[in-house]
Amino acid sequence: MTWEDPLTAHCSGFRTMQDNLSYSIAAQDICGTIPENLKGRFFRIGPARNELAGKPFGHWFDGDGAVSSFRIEDGQVHYRSSFVKTPKYLDETAAQRVLYRSFGHNAPGGFFKNLHMPANCANTSIVYHGGKLLSLFEGGRPWRLDLETLDTIGEEDFDELLRPRDTYSAHGKVHPRTGDYINFGMAAGITGPQMNLFRVSPSGCMVKRGKIKVDRMAFCHDNAMTENYLVVMVMPVSFKSPLNVILARDTIDQNMDYQPELGMKVYVVSLDDFSLIRTFEVDPFAFAHCSNCWEENGELFVDVLQLDEEQGEQGKAQFRDIFHQPFPACGKMQRYRFNMITGAVQAEALPNELPCEFPQWDWRRTGSKSRIIYTAGICQNETPGFYNALQRIDLESGDVKVFDSGSGRYVSEPIFVPRTPDAPESQGYLLTAVYDARTELSELLILDADTLSEPIATVPLKNHIPHGFHGGWTNL
Ligand SMILES: [Fe+2]
Repeated sequence: MTWEDPLTAHCSGFRTMQDNLSYSIAAQDICGTIPENLKGRFFRIGPARNELAGKPFGHWFDGDGAVSSFRIEDGQVHYRSSFVKTPKYLDETAAQRVLYRSFGHNAPGGFFKNLHMPANCANTSIVYHGGKLLSLFEGGRPWRLDLETLDTIGEEDFDELLRPRDTYSAHGKVHPRTGDYINFGMAAGITGPQMNLFRVSPSGCMVKRGKIKVDRMAFCHDNAMTENYLVVMVMPVSFKSPLNVILARDTIDQNMDYQPELGMKVYVVSLDDFSLIRTFEVDPFAFAHCSNCWEENGELFVDVLQLDEEQGEQGKAQFRDIFHQPFPACGKMQRYRFNMITGAVQAEALPNELPCEFPQWDWRRTGSKSRIIYTAGICQNETPGFYNALQRIDLESGDVKVFDSGSGRYVSEPIFVPRTPDAPESQGYLLTAVYDARTELSELLILDADTLSEPIATVPLKNHIPHGFHGGWTNL
C-alpha cells in the first residue's frame, strides 16, 4: 500500500469511538489460537472523542474517556465499549459545544466561565482493585464503572474520604505483598503545594491519607514505588504565570512549561505512615512514566522513561496538534540510583533500541527487583509517525527484542499477563490493541512475552479503538 503521507497515516485513529458496543468475536475470525490458560479481562482506556461538532479539542489530553474491555475465557473473546459518562461528556454531548475548561482549552466566556477546576475527562488509566473498576484522571477523582457492562456507576469518593477537590493520579500501584493500592494527587494546599497520599485496602476501602509538602505545583503524572517507599519526583514542569491561568488568559497547557532553572527534588516517603524519610536534589529531567523500581543494598533503583528535552517548543506544538501531526513525544529508559545512606545520586542509560514510551513490567514484581521491561516504541518501518512497535528489554543481559507491528499498524501500551500464577518472569503473554490504518479497525494481539515473535493470536474487531493511553488486566 502507498501512503499519502507515511508520517500521518495513523491520524485516522483519533476519530470518535462507537459507544456501547457488545459482541463476541467468532472463533473462525480469530487468527491463531487464544491460549487456554489466558482467562480474564484486558482493558484499554483513552480519549475517544477528541472533537465536538467537527471542532477538535485543544489537546489530546482533553478527549472524553472511553473504556474497551476484552473478556477472554475458554479460547473466546467478548468485546465491549463504553464512554465514561462524566458531566463533561453528558453536558457537552447534549450541547454539542465546549462547555468546560480542560487542560488544553478554556471554556468560552472568559474569566467567570473558567473559575472551576478543569473538567474530569476520565481518560487516562484504568484499574480493577478492591472490587471496583476505576477510570483514572489525574485532574480529579476516579470514576467507577461496572466490571461486566462498563456502565458508569459514578464518581468514587471512598466513603467521602476523597474530597470533591482532591485529585487522584492515573498511576497508583498495587503493592504485591500487602495488596494495598497506593496513589497520590497534587494539591495547591492552604499553606502551599502538597502531594496527597492515599492507601486503599484490598477490600477497596481507603484506610489512610497523608501528605507531604513539595516545592511547587508541578506536572507529576507518575511516581515510583519500592517495597517500603513511594519515591515522589517533582519535576520543574510547572506554571510560568499562575495568575494568567486563573484569569483564563492562558490555558493550562500554554502556561505549563519545562523550567530546568527551578531545579528538581525527589521525596522518599514511607509507605507505612506516609512520613517523609529524606529528599534528594537531582539534575532536572522530564519524564511521564516510571518502570518498576526497587531497593537493593541501601539504594533505590528507579527506572524512568526520560523524555527527549531537545524536542522543546516544536515538540509541544506538534503535541497540541497531534490529530494532524507525527507523534513527537518519545524517550528512552534511564536508571536513577538514590543512595539512602550517603545521599548520592547516579544516573545511567538502560538498554534501549527504540524511541519509546509506556514502560511496563510483570506486576507480581512491583517494588521488587525485576529483569524485563516492555515498552511501546517507534521503529523505522514505512509509517514511523506513531507507536508501531513493541520492545522487550532484558536488564540483565542487555538483550533488546523488537516487534514491528507492520506498516500502517499502531500498537498501544503492552500489558504482561503471566502464563500461570507462579510462572517465572517473562513466561506469559503480552497483550496490546493495534489500530490498522488500512482497515480503520482495531485488533487485539496476544504475543509470547518472552520472544515477541509472531502473534499467538490476532483478534479482529468490528470497530476501532482510538489511540489511547493505558491498559489494565484482571483475572476475573
Ligand atoms: Fe500515564
